[in-house]
Amino acid sequence: MPGPGRGLSARLLVLTIAFVMLGEVLIYVPSISRYRLVYLQERLAASHEATLTLQASPDGMISPELERELLKHARVRSIALRMPDASYLMLGKPPPVDAAFDLHDATPPELIRDAFVALAQTRNRVLRVIGPARVDPGVRVDVTLDEAPMVGEMFDYSGRILLLSIVLSLLTASLVFLSLHWLIVRPMRRITESLVAFREDPEDASRGIVASGRGDEIGVAEREFAEMQRGLRAALKQRARLAALGAAVGKINHDLRNILSSAVLASGRLAHSDDPKVKRQAPALTTAIDRAVALCEDILNFARAGDPEPRRGRVDLAALVDDVGKVLALPDDGSISWRNEVAKGFTVTADRDQLFRVIFNLGRNAVEAIDGQGEVRVGARRDAAATAIEVADTGRGFSVEARDHLFEPFAGSTRPGGAGLGLPIAREIMQAHGGDLCLAKSDAEGTVFRLEFPPE
Ligand SMILES: Nc1ncnc2c1ncn2[C@@H]1O[C@H](COP(=O)(O)OP(=O)(O)OP(=O)(O)O)[C@@H](O)[C@H]1O
Ligand SMILES: [Mg+2]
Repeated sequence: MPGPGRGLSARLLVLTIAFVMLGEVLIYVPSISRYRLVYLQERLAASHEATLTLQASPDGMISPELERELLKHARVRSIALRMPDASYLMLGKPPPVDAAFDLHDATPPELIRDAFVALAQTRNRVLRVIGPARVDPGVRVDVTLDEAPMVGEMFDYSGRILLLSIVLSLLTASLVFLSLHWLIVRPMRRITESLVAFREDPEDASRGIVASGRGDEIGVAEREFAEMQRGLRAALKQRARLAALGAAVGKINHDLRNILSSAVLASGRLAHSDDPKVKRQAPALTTAIDRAVALCEDILNFARAGDPEPRRGRVDLAALVDDVGKVLALPDDGSISWRNEVAKGFTVTADRDQLFRVIFNLGRNAVEAIDGQGEVRVGARRDAAATAIEVADTGRGFSVEARDHLFEPFAGSTRPGGAGLGLPIAREIMQAHGGDLCLAKSDAEGTVFRLEFPPE
């Protein structure tokens, strides 16, 4: 199990905090610029109100004290008002300005930029701000003011937002964290623990996962996992049984071959017996024993076929087919011919011994399927998609039951003394080469098997 701080929960916690903070930043940027805009608009509105006093005085003049008082109240340095009829009103004397802003046509990106420029100032600037009067948009208000008080308020506001974000993100993060922990992390941990326990001791049924019956994806995962554990456990038991059986068959086979070799010796002696009756029976006995030996060999081959990875090399196919023809027990009278139609120099990438076994098995089956006269042809061709070898015979074709159990070990044989292993082994070998073996055709005229190799 991952240690504290490295598990799913800790990562989720950090991620949630980071995302909420990011969200807060995205909210902060426009809101600080809005804060500055509202501040400036309020100054304009207050300035407009201040000039009302001036408009009320009969001669348009007020005392310097009142003027100072009004400007202080509006928190500006000077005010200039342009009325709709183009007349002017002034309060105070405008100082030299550092920057001017017209609120009539400020776009949001400009407002954001100006807000951050203001936050970055280290000294007080005098600003000139022009905008419409709030109550009377026809009136243009033009004021000068100090920037420092505004920046101070903006910093206060930012501090409050920061504090709020921290509180919010911690709160959201803990809620998200708790619910995720409850919904995902805890069940995930249960599954992980069960996986680990299962790997340590797959046969201990008490340590398997118990599905919680949830309806969501985790529930499905739990049920599937429990099902998989059951299946695997059964397969493991089966495998142990089969392994024991395999070992027993191996031993029996070994003993049987010793017994058979004494039988071969004895039958050899019988052939030289003086008793003509005994002498007549001897060849039948020898054939029977030979069949038994071949059967033992087949079973051993099958047991061996499961393991070896093919040791691939370039195989001269024409030479290999010739070799198979020599080993096949073809009748002496020449009634069955073995025709090698593979072009000279044709090669395939394969394990030579294994490929030999495949073609030998197919060849032996073909010879056995031919009654009387016939021929077996082996050909090969290669195109862009694949390399294929075909073994075709003019035999009697597949019987229905042999076809029903095609490629099934021990089940497909219709031949007395046949183990029913030739085709399954051949196919297994082809699949280990990344190819396949298939029955291309089989009818009363004959049978064609096709060996397919992956493209080279
Ligand atoms: N070329 C063929 N023509 C007709 N039937 C065939 C041919 N090849 C195989 N069969 C049928 O398929 C069955 C299974 O063949 P397979 O080679 O698997 O086993 P087998 O030949 O009976 O025994 P062994 O394990 O000794 O090879 C055969 O018994 C036969 O009935
Ligand atoms: Mg066979």
